[in-house]
Amino acid sequence: MNIQIAIDGPAGAGKSTIAKIVAEKLGYTYIDTGAMYRALTLKALNEHINLEDAKSITDLLTNTKIQLKPSSNGQLVFLDEKDVSEEIRSNEVTKNVSKVASHATMREIMVDHQREMAKQGGVVMDGRDIATAVLPEAELKVFMSATVEERARRRYEDNKHRGIESSLEQLKSEIAKRDKLDSEREASPLIQAPDAIFLDTTELSISEAAQTILELANERMG
Ligand code: DC
Repeated sequence: MNIQIAIDGPAGAGKSTIAKIVAEKLGYTYIDTGAMYRALTLKALNEHINLEDAKSITDLLTNTKIQLKPSSNGQLVFLDEKDVSEEIRSNEVTKNVSKVASHATMREIMVDHQREMAKQGGVVMDGRDIATAVLPEAELKVFMSATVEERARRRYEDNKHRGIESSLEQLKSEIAKRDKLDSEREASPLIQAPDAIFLDTTELSISEAAQTILELANERMG
């Protein structure tokens, strides 16, 4: 039986790395919903649209095509047919995405699109509101977190890997700020669903966290 797996949690908790491994092991589709909000943010920045204006951002999404395509190099993100997989990870996008993601009318369209993508069968979807808004019927819901210090350290190492220089202190404060915006917004804030399993990854390796989810998934599949 194919199931739906929803993974939510704050930035840097390890969601995407772990979700990707789980999806690969199960032969499921991985859907990174954060990448979709990032793609929209990139377009809004490029077109100098007021990020605070809900109507402009919603209209923009109506005229935008965002696609996630699997490849041998992982998942690629296409914005209006252009590969923006790298561009959406820039500091500029990271700093502004919470603002864009806060608009309820835009989120309704994004959520519809995500549900449509999940219809195809076994999926692992990660984000902030997957268990609470996008896939409330998911058979397995996991809320993944780690301390702010550990999440900043991971982002720092990640940046170093990509050749981006960063300050650990600054990353910590940016992550804390994004957590606050994502958790306190009115539209689908980041909260743990009552039936989600809490997974603290602070002290876990990537493979240990993936293994925990795979075991839970196997239980759900019966
Ligand atoms: O997971 P990420 O860092 O790529 O997500 C980017 C931003 O998008 C994050 O600050 C919150 C927002 N987001 C959201 O509001 N809802 C989702 N389902 C996924 C991400």
